[in-house]
Amino acid sequence: YGTGRVNELGHLEIGGVDTVTLGEQYGTPLYIYDVALIRERANMFQEAFKKSGVKSQVAYASKAFSSIAMFQLAMEEGLSLDVVSSGELYTAIQAEFPPERIHLHGNNKSYEELEMAIDANVGCIVVDNFYELSLIESICRKKGKVCPILLRVTPGIEAHTHDYILTGQEDSKFGFDLWNGQAEEALQLVLAKECFDVLGLHCHIGSQIFETTGFILAAQKLSEQIRNWHERYSFSPRVLNLGGGFGIRYTDEDQPIPVSAYVEEIVEAVKRDFDEYRMDMPEIWIEPGRSLVGDAGTTIYKIGSTKHVPNTRTYWAVDGGMSDNIRPALYQAKYEASLANRMNDKAEEEVAIAGKCCESGDMLIWDLPLPNIEHGDLLAVFCTGAYGYSMANNYNRIRRPAVVFVENGESRLVVKRESLDDLIRNDLSLYK
Ligand code: LLP
Repeated sequence: YGTGRVNELGHLEIGGVDTVTLGEQYGTPLYIYDVALIRERANMFQEAFKKSGVKSQVAYASKAFSSIAMFQLAMEEGLSLDVVSSGELYTAIQAEFPPERIHLHGNNKSYEELEMAIDANVGCIVVDNFYELSLIESICRKKGKVCPILLRVTPGIEAHTHDYILTGQEDSKFGFDLWNGQAEEALQLVLAKECFDVLGLHCHIGSQIFETTGFILAAQKLSEQIRNWHERYSFSPRVLNLGGGFGIRYTDEDQPIPVSAYVEEIVEAVKRDFDEYRMDMPEIWIEPGRSLVGDAGTTIYKIGSTKHVPNTRTYWAVDGGMSDNIRPALYQAKYEASLANRMNDKAEEEVAIAGKCCESGDMLIWDLPLPNIEHGDLLAVFCTGAYGYSMANNYNRIRRPAVVFVENGESRLVVKRESLDDLIRNDLSLYK
């Protein structure tokens, strides 16, 4: 049941709140976040670092789900924040997130985005390419400022994950290549200029990764390079950021390992190399997104129309779909789901759960065992907390759903459902 339990009415309850009541109160589709679970995950990462004795920052990769309330929660838990656009940065500023713990990412940051980050005094800019270096330099010159940066390098490591979300392999749009001299050229450049305060290096090898091997290999590759650069340029990084990508369980096909295991093995690998090369141990930063919020999120939908295709399947359609969760259509992502209002009823048949968008590909789940469905039943889809709401869109002019936080038996609306007027807010008439 994801993070929920079944209450005495046979309803799905999350964070001590009946999801059927939530559906009535806030409408559907509705994103529900189990706040206690997010806190627990944040703690697990931080405790693992504490145990290792290494200085660290755990930055929430806010692309997984960003909103003012989410950023406030991250702040309460002592997380840092990875933002990738002026939109995410603006949200962080509005949430009064401490700027020194904000890291700006992106492979094509605009002059305006960089200026906004530098004006806000963010903790660092994770620089992706030479053009960006020239933009930062000109902004710093204009303002007489020094910008703390990490250089994002591409170590050329392929993590076993979905092709769409590979970023660490050699043919990647991200970062300075480590194997062909590009990263070294960038390092020489930034070390020579006073406007850059080079904190260290960053890499990110992919997403939804279930093994520690990729992280260890990446750490080794970076450490080796750093040793060379230490000899050549007396470069000694204060920070090594190994990105995010820690996998979670969506269905039985996924077998995640505890987040502490990633931290322990990453720290061990870096320690081993830095000790061997007699260099000072840097701080280790990571950027988990999915593993902080993924399974804390559940979406509930109301079930509407149905269609039976003889000898093939029965479709049941929900009041959302690829407009609020594009992952099944985009990545063939798999989810589990149950009837939130009849959790104790036995499954009778396998059905296909369709969305309401005008696309045959708008299917949430192809083969879901469910009790006999009735119009108006509530479907709870589990583990939708990461890259669900954040990738939601207005295709077919469907309104984005509301988001609620639940904790200790209480619910709180944190993102309002879009209104019809929201949809036309930026439209201009030809006649007025
Ligand atoms: N750091 C960087 C530089 C990243 O590019 C990402 C994710 C993360 C951290 C966080 O990764 P996580 O811990 O969440 O795996 N939309 C796709 C995932 C795209 C991931 C993009 N970058 C999905 O729905 O599976």
